[in-house]
Amino acid sequence: NLRLIVDTDTAGDDVTSLLMGLLWPGVRIEAITTVMGNIPVESCTANALTTVEAAGRGGQVPVYQGCDRPLLRPLMQAAYVHGADGMGESNFPPPEHRAETEHAAHAIVRLLNEHPGELEIVAHGPLTNLAVAYMLDPSIVHKVKKVWVMGGSCHFRGNITATAEFNFYVDPEAARIVFQAGFPIVMIGWDICVRNALVGGEDLQRLHAIDTPTARFYRQVNRKALAFNQANGLDGVTHPDSITMAMAIQPELMLRSQRCQVDIECQSEANRGFSAVDTRPAPENTPAWTGGERTTAEVCLEADYGRFYRMLTAVLSGDFRE
Ligand code: BDR
Ligand code: CA
Repeated sequence: NLRLIVDTDTAGDDVTSLLMGLLWPGVRIEAITTVMGNIPVESCTANALTTVEAAGRGGQVPVYQGCDRPLLRPLMQAAYVHGADGMGESNFPPPEHRAETEHAAHAIVRLLNEHPGELEIVAHGPLTNLAVAYMLDPSIVHKVKKVWVMGGSCHFRGNITATAEFNFYVDPEAARIVFQAGFPIVMIGWDICVRNALVGGEDLQRLHAIDTPTARFYRQVNRKALAFNQANGLDGVTHPDSITMAMAIQPELMLRSQRCQVDIECQSEANRGFSAVDTRPAPENTPAWTGGERTTAEVCLEADYGRFYRMLTAVLSGDFRE
């Protein structure tokens, strides 16, 4: 059984990912930890609780609120993509359940110490909580089984700027700390999302035709992001977080990956948050090789769109037969 901590700036596709993790047979979300990003952290927490309730699991999955700002940078958000509530301007009533009082970073440290070698983390937002957890207890890098990071990008394709993906842009120092810490990271970048997880055209029509409460919820929370994408030349709903969750559930979804040196740009303004992913064969062709094992991550280079789409259909329809 897959046992997860999901760290999320809960809006739009984060919600899709949570639905997938909450509803997929055999997956157990032990904790949801929230972090500012798309919207303020208090809203992320409310959205996480609302999503757990929408999945019929209200009160069964603890939600821990985490960092309300990046380590060093001023707060910046993406309400213009997902709506002010992060849920496509749905303005859902407040959730019935409450978050735990323990801080997300403390909860991550505690859970990894209580269950060494058993839990995987799926990270969907700026990496602030994880960086703080690591600073509180560096030994957690050896206690987590795997960390699936949605963030960064290969091949210079950003979304918030020309070169940077949003999660790394918001808190580049946190991303750098996490990548240098030695966590067993799998990185799924924005490039994969655009190439292998953009659902548009007839495929999207088919998803939108599914008439279950889960599918209606999915459609509603992602509608602002869809309109934003369409106005910006991407014809469909992007699924960066949910394809990352899907990969944690079915690693076969990752068709091609490579162990690469990865570093995050923290100094330049123009390239803030850029992930420098060295896909050159190492180490012969990399004379400037500096980081050794410490800064490497497994970087996803190609994912199976068809399989991802089938997983999404299964979650929204509630029919998990292959
Ligand atoms: C990331 O930014 C957020 O808006 C999405 O939820 C995703 O985690 C994509 O750049
Ligand atoms: Ca996210």
